[in-house]
Amino acid sequence: MSESIEHVLEETRHFDPPAAFAARANLKSRADYDRMYRESIENPEGFWGKVAEEFHWFKKWQRVLNADAAPFYKWFEGGTTNLSYNCLDRHLDGPRKNKAAILWEGEPGDQRTLTYQQLHREVCKAANALKALGVHKGDRVAIYMPMVPELPIAMLACARIGAVHSVIFGGFSVNAIVDRVHDAACKLIITADSGYRRGAVLPLKPVVDEALKQCPTVEKVLVVKRGGNAVTMQAGRDHWWHETVAPASAVCPAEELDAEHPLYILYTSGSTGKPKGILHTTAGYMIGAAVTAKYVFDLQEDDVYWCTADIGWVTGHTYSVYGIFANGTTSVMYEGTPNTPHEGRFWEIIEKYRVNIFYTAPTAIRTFIRWGDEWPNKYDLSSLRLLGSVGEPINPEAWMWYHEVIGKGRCPIVDTWWQTETGSISITTIPGAMPTKPGSAGLPFFGVKVAVVTEEGEAVDAKHSGTLVIQAPWPSMLRTLFGADDRYKEVYWSKFAKQGWYLAGDGAFCDANGYYMIIGRLDDVIKVSGHRLGTMEIESALVSHDLVAEAAVVGYPHDIKGQAICAFVSVPRGITPTEKDKDTLRNHVATQLGPIARPDQIRFTDSLPKTRSGKIMRRLLRDIAAGKETKGDTTTLEDFTVLAKLREHAEG
Ligand code: PRX
Repeated sequence: MSESIEHVLEETRHFDPPAAFAARANLKSRADYDRMYRESIENPEGFWGKVAEEFHWFKKWQRVLNADAAPFYKWFEGGTTNLSYNCLDRHLDGPRKNKAAILWEGEPGDQRTLTYQQLHREVCKAANALKALGVHKGDRVAIYMPMVPELPIAMLACARIGAVHSVIFGGFSVNAIVDRVHDAACKLIITADSGYRRGAVLPLKPVVDEALKQCPTVEKVLVVKRGGNAVTMQAGRDHWWHETVAPASAVCPAEELDAEHPLYILYTSGSTGKPKGILHTTAGYMIGAAVTAKYVFDLQEDDVYWCTADIGWVTGHTYSVYGIFANGTTSVMYEGTPNTPHEGRFWEIIEKYRVNIFYTAPTAIRTFIRWGDEWPNKYDLSSLRLLGSVGEPINPEAWMWYHEVIGKGRCPIVDTWWQTETGSISITTIPGAMPTKPGSAGLPFFGVKVAVVTEEGEAVDAKHSGTLVIQAPWPSMLRTLFGADDRYKEVYWSKFAKQGWYLAGDGAFCDANGYYMIIGRLDDVIKVSGHRLGTMEIESALVSHDLVAEAAVVGYPHDIKGQAICAFVSVPRGITPTEKDKDTLRNHVATQLGPIARPDQIRFTDSLPKTRSGKIMRRLLRDIAAGKETKGDTTTLEDFTVLAKLREHAEG
C-alpha cells in the first residue's frame, strides 16, 4: 500500500500449546506443520490428492487441479462424490451411527438430539420431499430459517440431490430476500412460521409472503412449524414440512455428483453493487472444510463442539454443518440469543452439554466482558479445551479475557481468518503445533499461499502493513459469482491480474515470526458485529425513502460491535429534516434489509463531499464519523464548505 503505516504497537505476549494438549493433538509440532505446509505449497496436487483419498468417491478424479481457464479453477476434475454422503452415510457403518450429530437447544429450553443415523433418515426424507415438490439437480433452493435442526437437514437434503442451496440469514428482511431469491432464480423456498428470539416468537413466514410478491420464480414454499403463530398457507404453493417430509420415504441414495457440481450460493456484501452470490462447489469445498476443521479445531472422536454463528453465514455453513459432520463430530446448535433468559446462557449450555470446543466472534466476547465475569464464573467450564474466534479482528484485551475468564488459562485460542469466498479457514494457528499471540491470526493453513504486498504487488517488510493476497488457488475457494463471471474476475483477480493473485480486500501485516495480523477491510465493506455489510446496500435502502436525495454510508469504530454504521443523508430541496426523521430512516433501513443494517447514526447534510469527478470522498466521511481530524489529501474535494458543514452537524 502506498499509505502503509508503521506499526508501533508490538505484541510480545505469546502462549505455547499446553504439553498435554499437544500430546494428543492431530498435529503435534511446528516441525510437522512446516513439513506439511511446505509440501502443500511445493506440490499442491500431490498434497491434496493424498488428503482426498480419505473421502468417499463414486469415481476417482483424473486431475487434482486444472488451472487452464484461471481464475476459473477446477479441482478433482473427473471425480464424482456427494457431500451429504460424506457427512452422513460414511459414518453409518461403524461406531458413529448412534453418536449424536446435533445437540440442539431451543431458546425456550426445549431440546432435541439427532444421532448420525437419525439425521441421515431426516435428510433422506427431506430430499425425497424436495424431489416430490419438483426440485431437480441444479435447481436453486432458498432457505430462510431460524436456528432449528431442519435448517442443516434442508442443506444436507439439497446437497444430497444436487440442488444448490442459498441460505438467507433469518435476520434479513423483505428486500434482502427479494434480491437474493431473484438473483439465483430460486424455485423453492424453505422457511418456518417463526423462530424464538429474545423470548418472543419472531415471525418469518409473513416476511417470506411479502417477499414472494416480487419473486415470480418461486413455485413452492416448504414451511417448518416452530413458533405456532398463525400463518397464511397459500393452497398449491405452500406446504407444511411435517405434512410433506414426515411421510416421505427414508430411502434416498445420494446423487453421484461431479466434483465441480455447484453446492451452494451464499450472498455476501461487497463495496459496490448488489450482494455477490459466492458460488462454492462440491469436492474442493468438502475437503477444505473437513481438513481445516480436523486440524484447526483438533477434532477428536469424543469432542462436543459448538460454533455459535448463525448458519445463515459462512461460518455456520462450514463449521456448524459441512466441515463438522464430515468429521463425524457432535455439534451443538442453539436457537436463540446469548442473554435469553439470562446473560449466562452460553456458559449454561457449555456446562449442560460438556462442550469441549467453543467457536465464537470477538463482538460476542466484548459483550460478555461488559456483562461481567460473574456470569461465566457461575458455571462449570472445565470441559472446555479449545477456544476459537472468527469474523473480525480480536483486540488483545478481549483475547486475554477470553483466555483467562473462559479458558482459565488452559485452552489455546485459535483466531481464524477467512472469508465467505475462501470457504474455509485460511490463516490461523494450529493449536497443538504452535504458540498463539493475542491479536494475531497466525500462519497460513496448508495450501494457502499468502503475502502482504504494496499496491504495486511488492513485498512489504515486517514493520509495515499492506494488502493481503493469496498467491495460488486452494480447494475450497469460490469458483465464481453466481451468474456474474466478469464481476468475479473484476472484484478478486483484476488488481493483481499480472501475477494471478487473489485480492482478499483486507489490510494486514506479517511479523518477524511470519504471523499475520489482520487490520481490517480496505474497501467499503463494514463489519458490524462480525457481519459483513456493504455500504452500497444500505445506501440503496436509504435512497428508496422519499426523505432521501443522496446517501453515503460509512463504518466507524465501536467498542462492542467492532464497527457501527453512520449514514450521511442529503434531503430533497425544500425539506427540513427533523430529529424524528432520523428514526424514520433508521427504521426504514431495518425494515428493508433487516435489523443488523439499521444505521447507528444519521447525519443530515446539504450535500456530500465529492471529488471533481463526482466520487463521494468516503475517507473524509469515515474520519468525520469517527470524530477524527480529517487527514490526508483533500485537494480534489469539490466543495470545501461541505466538510465544515458536516462537522457542524456532528452528533455524539
Ligand atoms: O475482514 C475480514 C474479516 O471478515 C471478512 C470476511 O467476512 P465474511 O465473508 O463475512 O466471513 C466471516 C467469517 C469467515 C474478512 O475479509 N475477518 C474474518 N475473520 C477474521 C477477520 N478479520 C480479522 N481476524 C479474523 N480472524
